[in-house]
Amino acid sequence: MGREFIDLFDGWAASYDQTVSGEDVEYKEVFADYDGILDAVVDHTKGPNVMEFGVGTGNLTKKLINRGHSVIGIEPSSEMLKIAQIKVPDAKVYDGDFIEFPKPEVQVDSIVSSYAFHHLTDEEKEMAISKYSHLLKKGARIVFADTVFETQASKRRAIETAIASHYNNLADDLSAEYYTDIPTLQRICKKYDFEVLFEQKNKYVWVMVAEKK
Ligand SMILES: C[S@@+](CC[C@H](N)C(=O)[O-])C[C@H]1O[C@@H](n2cnc3c(N)ncnc32)[C@H](O)[C@@H]1O
Repeated sequence: MGREFIDLFDGWAASYDQTVSGEDVEYKEVFADYDGILDAVVDHTKGPNVMEFGVGTGNLTKKLINRGHSVIGIEPSSEMLKIAQIKVPDAKVYDGDFIEFPKPEVQVDSIVSSYAFHHLTDEEKEMAISKYSHLLKKGARIVFADTVFETQASKRRAIETAIASHYNNLADDLSAEYYTDIPTLQRICKKYDFEVLFEQKNKYVWVMVAEKK
């Protein structure tokens, strides 16, 4: 579910790693300290068994494997998936999405993701967290890095700033995809018995660490 952006990612796969390295001026601030953000996700990850959603070209996957985790990756874009399989042959990457995915054969210790949860509507985000609350045991974690706003007003201001800077792709993206706010994620996590905290990493991206109570 939440797969309406897959064609975009199939088309973006070949140049995606150039975008995250800051070559696209519109997305420079979104991807500022991209490597440090992925490292922060790994720092908060509990092991050994990790499930990663929206692996893309496998950049977070590679860092998790290098840190000794065993990774089950889930990715709905076939073009992204092909690149990830070449870049990180030690990870098992399957077709799927945040809500519909093959049942893991091991007890998962952490569910992680970077730059992807905003593809789900808030209702779909709640369905996903509800599903993870059944998969995870006490003390296990969800660690998600993504663009998220402190309030809906700060989201509107970000869109206005992008328009004023003539960053039309960024403005369209912020308007069309489902970037949420921190109070919404706090409400969902609390409802499904997670204790949650947020760390701001750049102007757009926060890391959410939710631990099962
Ligand atoms: C911006 S990329 C992020 C890739 C990688 N995690 C990173 O940090 O560079 C977003 C990824 O989420 C995937 N995606 C899109 N919709 C999804 C969904 N509903 N469930 C899981 N992944 C999704 C895309 O195919 C793409 O690979």
